[in-house]
Amino acid sequence: MSKRYLVTGGAGFVGSHVVLALLDRGHEVVVFDNLSLGHRAAVPAAALLIEGDLADAKQVHQVLAQGPWDGVLHFAAISLVGESMKQPFRYLADNPGNGIRLIEACIQHRVKRFVLSSTAAVFGNAGGEPLTEQAVIDPGSPYGESKHMIERALRWADECFDLRSACLRYFNAAGADAKGRAGEDHSPETHLIPLVIDAALGRRPEIAVFGTDYPTPDGTCIRDYIHVADLADAHIRALGALDGRSVTYNLGTGRGNSVMEVIRSVKRVGGRKVPVRLEGRRAGDPAMLVAASGLIQSETGWRPHYTALDDIVRTAWAWREAHPHGYNALPVAVAA
Ligand code: UFG
Repeated sequence: MSKRYLVTGGAGFVGSHVVLALLDRGHEVVVFDNLSLGHRAAVPAAALLIEGDLADAKQVHQVLAQGPWDGVLHFAAISLVGESMKQPFRYLADNPGNGIRLIEACIQHRVKRFVLSSTAAVFGNAGGEPLTEQAVIDPGSPYGESKHMIERALRWADECFDLRSACLRYFNAAGADAKGRAGEDHSPETHLIPLVIDAALGRRPEIAVFGTDYPTPDGTCIRDYIHVADLADAHIRALGALDGRSVTYNLGTGRGNSVMEVIRSVKRVGGRKVPVRLEGRRAGDPAMLVAASGLIQSETGWRPHYTALDDIVRTAWAWREAHPHGYNALPVAVAA
């Protein structure tokens, strides 16, 4: 049955892929985004884009009043670990403030299901094992802390007002829509895979490797790179898990790859050389973040479709190669 969803941050990287997945399943989607980080052209023509800011309570109430909504999916956030170490109070004020404004408006307008795009960064500097939902919460950065504050607000929204929510803590979103309808375009780009691809394509002189003295086999950080289409599927399945309860799921492939392994994967997929420069550590980076996602698998049937790093990189490569200027050169409405 077709449902109607509000997606904040639907013009951003993960949000836009979730919008596509919702539309592909026949649902109606309204995107609420201030376009400060997202792209107008990332919103498919079949979705309605409302340009607005979560910092503005009046605008938030206006959009929620346009219900009924079968659910709200919240992606809009500032989300850079390194930046948050330089601007901690901006992160600690803006992300929770915007999240709580949205949650309050959802309660007021009788929304029953809420999905938070949270982060594995709530776990901080973890040990060597894949992280389960029981792992100790100890954010290693103000960014991780700011998302955890929204998770806590949702816990009380459930307790006090029966707003059921899913907090999805995921790791490194990567890849691009297999049909080429959306991809990763941050400005400035700080994420590893697109930067390595740009270095391979000669669009930047080299890739800097941040830290080679971590307690990992090759000394570089290990991350769980998960394809955005798998993330999108998980968000939609999580909506269906909220019958009378709230859930928290870790989301990943269960397989970590080091920075060096990512660089080698890009070389294989693109068939090009990648100039590398070794640098010191970047503040706030945990050595290893890998998810144990058994809980979401057993409760919703979710499985990652992209289990090999090369397959993830291949979709990222295709989009990046086809869009040297990201969304800027694209017409505004992309057909879904
Ligand atoms: N890295 C480099 N060189 C670069 C860029 C990144 O060596 O030029 C390294 C980083 O130090 C890190 C790894 O590549 O070890 C991945 O870095 P990203 O910036 O791509 O991603 P992060 O792991 O910092 O952050 C991502 C998301 C966050 C999320 C976090 C959870 O961007 O939103 O994963 O782990 F919170």
